[in-house]
Amino acid sequence: MPEPGDRPGERLQKVLATRGWGSRRVCEDLIGEGRVTVNGEVAALGRRVDPDHDLVEVDGAPVGTRPDLVHYLLNKPAGVVTTAKDTAGRPTVVELVPAEPRVFPVGRLDAETEGLLLLTNDGELAHRVAHPRHGVVKEYLATVTTAGGPVPAGAIRRLRDGVELDDGVTAPARVSQPSPGVLRIAVHEGRNRQVRRMCEAVGHPVTRLVRTAIGPLHDRRLPPGAWRPLTPAEVIALSQATTVARSGF
Ligand code: URA
Repeated sequence: MPEPGDRPGERLQKVLATRGWGSRRVCEDLIGEGRVTVNGEVAALGRRVDPDHDLVEVDGAPVGTRPDLVHYLLNKPAGVVTTAKDTAGRPTVVELVPAEPRVFPVGRLDAETEGLLLLTNDGELAHRVAHPRHGVVKEYLATVTTAGGPVPAGAIRRLRDGVELDDGVTAPARVSQPSPGVLRIAVHEGRNRQVRRMCEAVGHPVTRLVRTAIGPLHDRRLPPGAWRPLTPAEVIALSQATTVARSGF
């Protein structure tokens, strides 16, 4: 039974939750923090909206129009596998995000690799992000073994120019050394265990590998094991990143 003054439509926190902004509780907090507007006005908790006609925005970005699609950015901890089910019983990335709607990881990180992983039920976007032709740039921080000092310039040059691996020479990579023995490596190929094999090939095996960016997506504040929905602006930026036909950096 509608109460006096109630508008028809769905509750705002439900609309946000079904569009992937997190649990109802998280969405209530977003509204409570004044970050949600309806038709340009800051919305109050309990507000009802008509998703087909009202313009709902979070932090100024319109909330997506495909309510069935969700996109999560997960900070994968070491020891968690990038599959839906592991035969060895290890924890999997899909266990770290909401079970419904079912999502799948886009690309994969080795069990021991940490950092950003995209999970979604948006098959179209996932296909484009994962496809080598689009070559979305992935950035990693690799801690490598050295004889004590920094990785020598010659090894860094080889990583940049291309390294001979058993499945062929790698494409040019962006490589810097923000601190001795730590390499920031950006690649757009996504071959199996590529960064570990590249570093090994130049004599500096990886001891820790963290993915820090997937195209335009990055988040230094997301704790290990935590996830958050992409903002609509991030979904758009990621989609745009896949429209670039890539032949190098
Ligand atoms: N390169 C690797 O070697 N491992 C990963 O998990 C990702 C990229």
